[in-house]
Amino acid sequence: MSKQRILVLGAGRMAEAIFAGLLRTQREYIEEIVVANRSDKSRLHELQEQYGVTVTTDWREHVRSADTVLLAMPPQNHRDVLRELAPHLQGQLVVTVAAGIGIGLLEDLLPARTPVAWVMPNTAAGIGESISLYTCGQHVGPEQRDVLQMILAGIGEAAECTEQQVHDLTAITGSAPAFLYAFAEELEAAAQSYGVTPATARKLVAQMIYGSAAMLRAGSDPAELRDGVTTPGGATAAGLRVMEERGFSDMMQDAVRATNARARYMANE
Ligand SMILES: NC(=O)c1ccc[n+]([C@@H]2O[C@H](COP(=O)([O-])OP(=O)(O)OC[C@H]3O[C@@H](n4cnc5c(N)ncnc54)[C@H](OP(=O)(O)O)[C@@H]3O)[C@@H](O)[C@H]2O)c1
Repeated sequence: MSKQRILVLGAGRMAEAIFAGLLRTQREYIEEIVVANRSDKSRLHELQEQYGVTVTTDWREHVRSADTVLLAMPPQNHRDVLRELAPHLQGQLVVTVAAGIGIGLLEDLLPARTPVAWVMPNTAAGIGESISLYTCGQHVGPEQRDVLQMILAGIGEAAECTEQQVHDLTAITGSAPAFLYAFAEELEAAAQSYGVTPATARKLVAQMIYGSAAMLRAGSDPAELRDGVTTPGGATAAGLRVMEERGFSDMMQDAVRATNARARYMANE
């Protein structure tokens, strides 16, 4: 693979997570990273200082020299940007990380035969621990796949899916970290109510989640792990019963459905 010039449209949290990961782990494959937004020059200056990336508020002049264009701005802005991007493209790989944006929209609005991909990372991309879903358009060849794999490996693990699966699983991999953090907040609050300091509460909860995640990741079944902690009629069983009585299962399924519905709505706005 030749060294890549990557043009990143969007200079927010996800853009930073991705190019920070690339610069940390894939530098040998990177020729230049150009980061653009519309107006926030102080943010661009900050990114330039911290990462040594090239920055601009006028990305159009950088499209021709780019090998890959990465769209990391809100879903609602995609249509306008894709229309504006189209006349500048000459076969570059175009990748979006926006929730709800399918391959179809990219292929419809960009020139015929443009190779496109849709990646759904999560915020752990910032520490190289994302689980990213991705799907490729019909014109992505082996070279562009290599580039995509290089980008994905820079931010963690990845799983190739159908376009429909990326839509359906966005809540599970992209948004569920927020569900988990809400869970952590409640446990930290409970710990503090028993008199421990915020720092101790954080340590207890973070290590509990980390250890539990490590056991899951090692391949254990969550139901078996839950059983392993739960003596019938015991203390944990009493807590789980409250979760069940309050509709935990329905609540989680509804949260997933609401997330996906909102992602689709925003993409169509
Ligand atoms: N955060 C996550 O956990 C996460 C997870 C998965 C996917 N994503 C996706 O990642 C994308 C970005 O999310 P984020 O959390 O990074 O948002 P963010 O922090 O709000 O950043 C959005 C960035 O896009 C820029 N922008 C907006 N319109 C633009 C345009 N027309 N041209 C160039 N830049 C533009 C904004 O700057 P200006 O306003 O100055 O232009 C800003 O730098 C979204 O599509 C989101 O669905 C995020």
